[in-house]
Order: sequence, then structure tokens, then C-alpha cells
Amino acid sequence: MRRAKISIVGAGNVGATTAHWCAAAELGDIVLLDIPQTEGMPAGKALDLMQSSPIMGFDAKVLGTTQYDDTAGSDVVVITAGIPRKPGMSRDDLLNTNARIVGSVSEEIRRTSPESIVIVVSNPLDAMVQRAQQVTGFSPKKVIGQAGILDTARFRAFLAMELGVSVEDISAMLLGGHGDTMVPLPSCTSVGGIPISRLLAPQRLDEIVQRTRDGGAEIVKLLKTGSAYYAPAAATAQMVEAIVRDKKRLIPCAAYCDKQYGVGGYYVGVPVILGAAGVERIIELELTESERAAFQKSVDAVKDLVAIMDKLTRDT
Ligand code: NAI
Ligand code: 2OP
Repeated sequence: MRRAKISIVGAGNVGATTAHWCAAAELGDIVLLDIPQTEGMPAGKALDLMQSSPIMGFDAKVLGTTQYDDTAGSDVVVITAGIPRKPGMSRDDLLNTNARIVGSVSEEIRRTSPESIVIVVSNPLDAMVQRAQQVTGFSPKKVIGQAGILDTARFRAFLAMELGVSVEDISAMLLGGHGDTMVPLPSCTSVGGIPISRLLAPQRLDEIVQRTRDGGAEIVKLLKTGSAYYAPAAATAQMVEAIVRDKKRLIPCAAYCDKQYGVGGYYVGVPVILGAAGVERIIELELTESERAAFQKSVDAVKDLVAIMDKLTRDT
């Protein structure tokens, strides 16, 4: 049986670490691509990863390149190309530069891997995934953004630290854009099946929700030279796995919502079923009044960003 072909565009921190997780889990053969100015960097990282395979015991080819033809016929393409934020920058400050980069990467994907499913990671996430769909012209079900798995993982990790329980027993869900307006859903959060509201006081839960919203900025402040990559890459690899193994995972992803949740044609974080066809279904939840208001605020922030991006890309 042919192994899946997974291409990762952007061989920086998130891209190379995604390659690492995907190779270690034997999700397929991997092509790691970066711009020609990086010269041997992607090839060096790929060779280094290949040399870890006898120790870690995985069978996967990992190729590093600066040529899109090496990615031709990919089943999944992950876009991590772009600049990350530095202290004091918001994800939205990356809009101008990354919209240009994601646009040019998407043109190459359309040319070389027209049947692929595209996972976008570059920030600001919800606008970048919209850009990738606009430029590839692929079905919106096949262009998906990674954010919700990371954000819920942060929420789950903080809850596990607070309660002194295994992360494996914590289940959580979250809606909205990948930004300060994201909407963690305590009503859909449980620990070993017990609703979180029965284990934590409301004020402490609010503090943990806020720490989750600030989770990316907390790491940027500590690292000083870039943003998080281990957890973002693990989250991205989980999406790759759901697709190449057709797992039908119910997970939060940035998916194209039109009538769903009344969003009207934008990418935003919602629970989806992710499998071999991409987003196979969007799960619509009944929201409480306050959840609905918070979700609407988040959707409005995404719409504002997309409007700025559309103007920028029209004018250049
Ligand atoms: P990085 O700077 O380590 O890597 C980015 C790579 O993209 C560099 O190697 C650069 O040469 C490459 N690149 C730039 N233009 C390119 C082009 N046109 N074609 C191909 N490659 C190109 O940055 P890092 O930390 O890997 O972050 C990448 C992006 O992912 C950033 O925009 C960051 O904000 C975003 N991110 C998103 C997360 C999410 O949850 N959605 C989480 C973490 C990061
Ligand atoms: C994060 O949440 C920067 O989006 C990135 O860590």
C-alpha cells in the first residue's frame, strides 16, 4: 500500500516539529519545503530527522527541499510559512506579510497538489485559512485551519495542573477565532465525565479560561524570539493523522461556516468531524446566551481581519 505523502511548507520551528511528530507516528512520507534563500536548511533538517529513525524505530522518508515539484501529488499539505510574532506583537500584526506569503504558497499548492487537503497554521490563523481557500480555489471542506486543538490542549493542560489529574481524563471544547476573543466552553468541559463546574469554583475557572486565551502570548513573552511550536506542531500532526487514517475525529478546527452558527461565509473555530474527505461535518451546538454573545464577538473580529486582508490583497 502506498504511504500518504505529507508536505510541510515552512521548515521553521512549527514546520520542522510537525515533520518530527508526523514521522515518529509513521503518518506517511514527508517533504519539508522552505524558500530558496534558506539553501540547505530544509535538507539538513530532513536528513537529521531521517537519521533519528533507526533510534526511534519509524519507517518514513523525509525529504527537505526548496522546489515545489518535490511536493507534487501530496495528499496533505501543511502551511506553516510566514513570520511568527515577537513580544508585544499580536497575531493580527502579522497580517500583511503572511497574507502575501500564504497567497504565493497557495498558488504553488494549486499547481502541484490539486487533489490535496490543506491545513493552514500561519497566523493570523482564521484570515490565513480564508486566504488559502480563496487562492487554491479548493472545496472549503479541504482547506482547514489549525488552532482549536492547540487552544483546547492548553485549557486541558492548565486544568490538569490545577486539579492534579491526568490530562487524559480532561475533555474540552472551544469555539471562535484563534485570538484574544476565543471562546473556551466550560459547559462542554469535563474531567472523567464529571462536569468541570462540579470540581472548580467559578472564579478559578474564569482565571484558567483567561490563561488559555493568553496561552500563546505567555509563551512569546518567555521565548522572546518567536512563538510556541511543540504544542502547535503536535496539534497539527493530530489533524494530519485524522485525515490520512480517516479517523473521523470530533475536534475543534477552523472550518468554513456559512449557514452553520449563522456565520455567513467565514472560517472560524467550530467542532468538526475530520476524516479522509477533510471536514466531513460541522457539529452545531445549542449555545447559551453568553456563549452566543462571546462567539459573535469572536466572529466579528475575524470578519474585520478578513476585510482588512481582502483590501490589502486587492490593492497590491
Ligand atoms: P519560523 O520563523 O520558525 O518558521 C517560518 C518559516 O517559514 C521560515 O523557515 C521561513 O523561511 C519560511 N517561509 C517564509 N516565507 C516562505 C514562503 N514564501 N514559502 C515557504 N516558506 C516560507 O516560524 P514558526 O514559529 O514556525 O511559525 C510559523 C507560523 O505559524 C507563524 O505565522 C506563527 O504565527 C504561526 N503559528 C500558528 C499557530 C496556530 O496555532 N495556528 C501556533 C504557532 C505558530
Ligand atoms: C500560539 O497560539 C502564536 O498562535 C500561536 O502560540
